[in-house]
Amino acid sequence: MTNRKSKLLIAIFVLAFLVLSCQNSGSGTNQTQVNSNQSPTVANEIPDRKWWKEAVVYQIYPRSFKDSDGDGIGDLRGITSKLDYIKSLGIDVVWLNPIFASPNDDNGYDISDYEAIMKDFGTMADFDEMLVGMHKRGIKLVLDLVANHSSDEHEWFNQSRSSRGNPYRNYYHWWDEEKGKPAKRWSFFDENADAWKYDETTKSYYLHYFSQKQPDLNWENPQVREEVYKMMRFWFDKGIDGFRMDVITFISKDTRFPELPEKYRGNFVQYYAEGEQRHEYLQEMNREVLSRYDIMTVAEGPGTTTENVLEYVGEDRRELNMSYHFEAIDLGYKDLSKKLIDPNGWSFLEFKKIYSKWDAVFAEKGWGTIYLGNHDQPRMVTRWGNDAPAFRELSSKMLTTFLLTMRSTPYYYFGDELGMTNIRFDNIDDYRDIMTINLHKLIATEGGDLDEFMESQKVVGRDNGRTPFQWDNSPNAGFTTGKPWLKVNPNHTEINAEAQESDENSVLNYFRKIVKFRKENLVLIYGKYTLLDQDNESVYAYTRELNGEKFLILLNFTEKEADTNTGLDIRNAKILLGNYEKPSADGKLKPYEAVILEL
Ligand code: NOJ
Repeated sequence: MTNRKSKLLIAIFVLAFLVLSCQNSGSGTNQTQVNSNQSPTVANEIPDRKWWKEAVVYQIYPRSFKDSDGDGIGDLRGITSKLDYIKSLGIDVVWLNPIFASPNDDNGYDISDYEAIMKDFGTMADFDEMLVGMHKRGIKLVLDLVANHSSDEHEWFNQSRSSRGNPYRNYYHWWDEEKGKPAKRWSFFDENADAWKYDETTKSYYLHYFSQKQPDLNWENPQVREEVYKMMRFWFDKGIDGFRMDVITFISKDTRFPELPEKYRGNFVQYYAEGEQRHEYLQEMNREVLSRYDIMTVAEGPGTTTENVLEYVGEDRRELNMSYHFEAIDLGYKDLSKKLIDPNGWSFLEFKKIYSKWDAVFAEKGWGTIYLGNHDQPRMVTRWGNDAPAFRELSSKMLTTFLLTMRSTPYYYFGDELGMTNIRFDNIDDYRDIMTINLHKLIATEGGDLDEFMESQKVVGRDNGRTPFQWDNSPNAGFTTGKPWLKVNPNHTEINAEAQESDENSVLNYFRKIVKFRKENLVLIYGKYTLLDQDNESVYAYTRELNGEKFLILLNFTEKEADTNTGLDIRNAKILLGNYEKPSADGKLKPYEAVILEL
């Protein structure tokens, strides 16, 4: 054999080996090296370890993180310039909200070109540089897959709406006017809550579960699915490490569009999430794309319940790795569809019950997620803690302790590591979020109570979680030299990263400490969870146990001192971590106290 030939054969052999080993990996089966933490004896005995189970995910809303060019909008180069900060947090994975070309009707959740970068955010070269920078630091990158709908400015939709006979017609859901008015479908973002929009050109209605500029893609058309898979491969081949999948539970639809069956009236989300072919499509996606890469996937799972979630994330299903539910985050609403909060607040006992119920689902199979904030939610400390000056830091740390000691992959929202708070706009003109703006119009049209709506928005409005990151105490918080796209919270003069860097006891440094602590203690990741003292109205108490190790976590969710009654003897317990300088060792907790004990 000539030298060239044998080199070629070796190359083919190596390539075949690589391809085969990749095919064995992918969602639910990948084998990437996980962290080798402390407690090696324990580590060896844990079955089914996965890097994404051990990861802490840090979510960045790119529009609001760091602006590099003074246009008032955060961008990719801004993120790249802050990679050392991100690395310093100790997190493993960054999830970025959509960064693709978009007219920004819904801040990037309306994509006009899935393989191009949004102009506001930079260029593909900026993306490549950011990805290299992340990987160089050992940080993985997860992007947002928004495939239930596209933008109405996507070329597919331009074609689709141009004539009834266009080859792209069937990429979307159309209802020809001769058939009469289509059956009611609720839209989350439409000012009339109507998910059917009449289009003059072809005298037909198209479906949009979200805004009029977000037409739903027709997954029943195999060509659409193939386009989505092709686009996913494009990003995986660039080296990204996973996708968070926007409203992926909604992709399958009954294209006859019947009247909503009786049992779903008043619960349209459940109907949207129970399309008959949803699992068929996800299994196909896994076969065609996910199983070929060493990546992670997480569903945004509206409508998932403890009864059905394993159908998405059970390993044997070969669909997705994880899903995040809304059962706890949606506590305390009087009317969720209008985002009106219940003046009586939310039930703490219910909160504990829900998290415990969700933990139990994954006792044998699958894997959970946990979060208290994201770009669709207000600031964690305002909603679930207490952002009054006396308690903001303490309750931020307490909530962080909760997120980082549960048996699920934590999804931690940028800015929560500083204890950033809701901005609480008084004026509708300050809001930029289409959801708030159009709900305001809807309630006005219906003659509803706008004051009640505005007060509710101060608590739960999405823009509260989207205000620019507070880097320092300079006029725009060091976020931009221009005019920020959304107002900066005036409290940045006190709450900012720079001030917290140098303070050993800051919320920021507590976050770093507890991220490291979780990663060094596999019991916090894989250990069995047991709820204690379940009727305690103030304290969330639970143990985590793994191969003889046992940790007790005590969290006071109130501004008053509180007692616990766990039934455990804690006299000899060792204090491992707490959010007070002198953590309580006797089960009596100070306001918003969090303490981790080893038993
Ligand atoms: C869920 C996303 O998280 C949200 O921000 C977006 O507005 C809707 N899906 C529509 O894409």
